[in-house]
Amino acid sequence: MTSPFLHSLTIALGERSYPIHIGSGLLSDAATFADLPKAAAALIVSNGTVAPLYAPALQWALRAHYAQVHLVVLPDGEAHKDWQTLNLIFDTLLQNSCDRKTVLFALGGGVVGDMTGFAAASYMRGVPFVQVPTTLLAQVDSSVGGKTGINHPLGKNMVGAFYQPQRVLCDLDTLKTLPAREVSAGLAEVIKYGPIADMAFLDWIEAHIDALVARDVHALAHAVRRSCEIKAHVVAQDEREGGLRAILNFGHTFGHAIEAGLGYGDWLHGEAVGCGMVMAAHLSHALGLVDEAFVQRLTRLIAAAGLPVRGPVLDAGDNAGRYLALMRVDKKAEAGAIRFVLIDGPGRACMRGAEDSLVRAVIDRCCAA
Ligand code: NAD
Ligand code: GLY
Repeated sequence: MTSPFLHSLTIALGERSYPIHIGSGLLSDAATFADLPKAAAALIVSNGTVAPLYAPALQWALRAHYAQVHLVVLPDGEAHKDWQTLNLIFDTLLQNSCDRKTVLFALGGGVVGDMTGFAAASYMRGVPFVQVPTTLLAQVDSSVGGKTGINHPLGKNMVGAFYQPQRVLCDLDTLKTLPAREVSAGLAEVIKYGPIADMAFLDWIEAHIDALVARDVHALAHAVRRSCEIKAHVVAQDEREGGLRAILNFGHTFGHAIEAGLGYGDWLHGEAVGCGMVMAAHLSHALGLVDEAFVQRLTRLIAAAGLPVRGPVLDAGDNAGRYLALMRVDKKAEAGAIRFVLIDGPGRACMRGAEDSLVRAVIDRCCAA
């Protein structure tokens, strides 16, 4: 029998290893869900935008494997990635007397995926879960690698756990209904993999950026596969971010400051990361790590993906000071000292601190007047 998957790869984590399947028509095919842990019940976690589009097909497919298939529909948006919304998942599990074998299915973007994973990590001290990502960002990044959690008003993704899914199922068909702005946001995380790990991939993205923006299915399939390969390779070496995995946060230190500073949900996560990569590239240049041509090249590509390349003003009085204050609560900060992911050669990233004066100059240069 031929595989229903266009591409399959494995994330190698010993007994926590799992497959990532990429293809079309996956979520409505009962065969996709064979060989998962046996249980009486499954719970699909989704939101008010995605559930009407895809939950009925997924419910139908899961009924081949589970006697009960429950659904909880969360409010949509980054602003709801919090304790109150997380609790709706626990409420549904307990109201339906779900036992510790219950399998959770995260049907949605990164917000649903991160919250479902955290709920799975904590419900009865851990139940299995499956990622069914429906945004480009979630297919190329957030569904892979086991980072789960919620936001705190004082910091992005500050409460959570490392907890790996049983399987990741990237159904490319779901990307057809994604708003254009969300496609661009996902492309930020695709672009990220080039400068940190694979310049040949960066060349390929540049050559195919129009096809990616237009959602050409072959271009998307390659982008999802190569992104997952790079992420799987990094996570396999450093599952809990003792060191290397931090390179996946290129652009995120500035980006998280933008998200928290504007209020979650104003700029999309991918938009903040795209602009954050421009700022991190400028900082890399200011430290003498890359030349100006590299900064311009990356900036052009991020703009071509439909992403903002100038940072927002977070404080009309002391904008750079506001950015610095927000960046000091980044998870990579040590004893209040900010550590940036910077580019120090083609396809190579490093972690470094920088003088506040240098960071201020970069922020002043990169932010909209
Ligand atoms: P999201 O989950 O908010 O989804 C974006 C929007 O698209 C939402 O309105 C959603 O309802 C809608 N949507 C989802 N799928 C759709 C579809 N197929 N058709 C139409 N609409 C659809 O945002 P996101 O960009 O997917 O994820 C961002 C989140 O991911 C952030 O919270 C970020 O912190 C997190 N993240 C986590 C990791 C990780 O490693 N765990 C990595 C990167 C980002
Ligand atoms: N998105 C960063 C990571 O998974 O480590």
